[in-house]
Amino acid sequence: MMCSLWRGSSLTLNSSLNRRLFKSCRQLGRSYNIASCIPEAVAFQGVSDHSGLYKLSVNESDRFWGAVARQRLSWISPFHTVQNCDFSQGKIKWFEGGKLNVSDCINTHTHHPSHPFISPNFVDISLHRQLLELTCRLGNLLKRQGVRRGDCVTLYMPTCPLAVASMLACARIGAAHNVVFAGFSSEALADRIRDAQSSTVITVNQGVRGGKVVDLKRTVDQAVQNCPSVQQVLVAMRTENTVAMTDRDVPLEEEMMKEDVVCEPVAMDSEDVLFLLYTSGSTGKPKGLVHTQAGYLLYTSLTHRYVFNYHDGDVFGCVADIGWITGHSYIVYGPLCNGGTTVLFESTPVYPNPGRYWEMVERLGINQFYGAPTAIRLLLKYGDEWVQNYNRSSLKTLGSVGEPINTEAWEWYHRVVGDGRCPVVDTWWQTETGGICIAPRPSDPGAEIVPGMAMRPFYGIKPALLDTEGEVLSSNDSTGALCISQAWPGMARTIHNHHQRFTETYFQPYPGYFFTGDGAYRSKEGYYQIIGRLDDVINVSGHRLGTAELEDVVVCVYMFVVLKKAVAVQEDVLAQQLREMVSRSIAKYACPDFIQVVRCLPKTRSGKIMRRVLRKVVERNTDELGDLSTLDDPDSVHEVIRGHQRLR
Ligand code: PRX
Repeated sequence: MMCSLWRGSSLTLNSSLNRRLFKSCRQLGRSYNIASCIPEAVAFQGVSDHSGLYKLSVNESDRFWGAVARQRLSWISPFHTVQNCDFSQGKIKWFEGGKLNVSDCINTHTHHPSHPFISPNFVDISLHRQLLELTCRLGNLLKRQGVRRGDCVTLYMPTCPLAVASMLACARIGAAHNVVFAGFSSEALADRIRDAQSSTVITVNQGVRGGKVVDLKRTVDQAVQNCPSVQQVLVAMRTENTVAMTDRDVPLEEEMMKEDVVCEPVAMDSEDVLFLLYTSGSTGKPKGLVHTQAGYLLYTSLTHRYVFNYHDGDVFGCVADIGWITGHSYIVYGPLCNGGTTVLFESTPVYPNPGRYWEMVERLGINQFYGAPTAIRLLLKYGDEWVQNYNRSSLKTLGSVGEPINTEAWEWYHRVVGDGRCPVVDTWWQTETGGICIAPRPSDPGAEIVPGMAMRPFYGIKPALLDTEGEVLSSNDSTGALCISQAWPGMARTIHNHHQRFTETYFQPYPGYFFTGDGAYRSKEGYYQIIGRLDDVINVSGHRLGTAELEDVVVCVYMFVVLKKAVAVQEDVLAQQLREMVSRSIAKYACPDFIQVVRCLPKTRSGKIMRRVLRKVVERNTDELGDLSTLDDPDSVHEVIRGHQRLR
């Protein structure tokens, strides 16, 4: 017998009832009973509107999160303490004493065994019941192969049902997963396997992306040569092509089919590790951020429900890759926890043509579409017809994530993709935050939206802007370092094996606050707009990279190259070699678009590269170079400007 740990709780309202409720809420304006729109509010008597509920969530955080956790999660044993957090030590603990199993978020939905789970390319695994069976077989296989509670399994897989089942199988048996984006090079993969000390890796023979076959198993073979901890590699067959198997390799499907379809979920402590996810920091070494069980699950399911106005029966289409936090939180944990139909997208937005996303929206009846500005910017260049060829009447909410969405892209997304009737929600968050922290309509489906702004904090999120002296900027219409002043359940707990780096990075820059690394502007109305990173982290096509990581190989993504005097080499040959180096050592997406050879870089007298000056040159904002008084060699800037003009 499988025990069902996840109650459908508030989300068991059927979808037509829910829709009716929301419609009448809107018609009534703000005088409605909030509990009928936000079932969580039932627990809080006296709260009558969204802003009241938000205030309660930050002012009486224990009361808010305690009630929501009791209502939304099914516990094997109840928690005794809502939170036990101390930013000065980087101590974050939620729901201590509680026991649960997050993979069981799919279990309660076995009362909808034929409820769809996913669709596009995988007709064979498309129901919640099938996902559960797959998860259990895999869980049993992992146990047979010696994986134990507390171990960490590395996944190097494309976004496919087996990858989701592998994540959930780890969760079911109490192992942590470490998903590595399947576009990373073998060196980057090896670094992450070594840091996580995984003995088991799960991969596929080959991936298929944008019509191209990618030899993922070969990359794993190269990586594990330098990973002594690895004892076995489970290999699934994504394509029909056979690949060389060694003694270390286990044919996944074949072995899995020998296993039982029942696998008892292990009772995990709220603060046991659910997964590691590596992300770039401002030093060369990626950080293995640690997320734990109950708080993460609660936060992703709550944000998924309210930020996107998701309802039971909706089809949720997040087109991210499961190798990033967006995929973890809004392809897997949030939607599945809410019993939702979640779409897995394995391709690129322009394959086989730029109508790919919208064809999928029509075919699958997607209600919420969640993507990255970089893809939107790319697609708008192909014109409106690719969108208009398809019926998008199912769409209700359009989401954006990963980088600022510029006005042109926002307008196009809203006007063309959403036919001017779907709200666009620009969601700000990070690998570290676990789930969305700032978004236009975190609860109120009728709230005003300002284009290109993340706007409003989610429940329990209390943002603060601090100036360079560490003083809180209390008035509106100010710009400063974006910090969060109190803990929330979805936040990362530590950096794997480097707790000191965790406290130094996030809690020491502004004592008493979690520092996000981003700068933000708070408008006159009190809405937040993200300005960009304040540290040496850069965003390339929505992917996060540390400049130091790139500097291990070369200087920058718009790459300025300083040659040693003795080197005489043609610039195009050099550019080719540098691109190959970046691709080999990091990933293809990190390759620079422009490579400019310069005699020297603009540096301060103390030897620091003035990146802001380089950035302005590249942006062609040479009127805004700012204060150059600390520059060591003023000619260096003019040379960079002249070289840049030649290159463009
Ligand atoms: O700089 C912010 C940017 O992406 C960073 C987080 O990257 P990562 O951990 O890879 O997670 C990306 C997906 C959640 C942030 O520090 N960022 C994320 N969302 C936005 C954003 N910048 C502007 N607007 C956003 N909506």
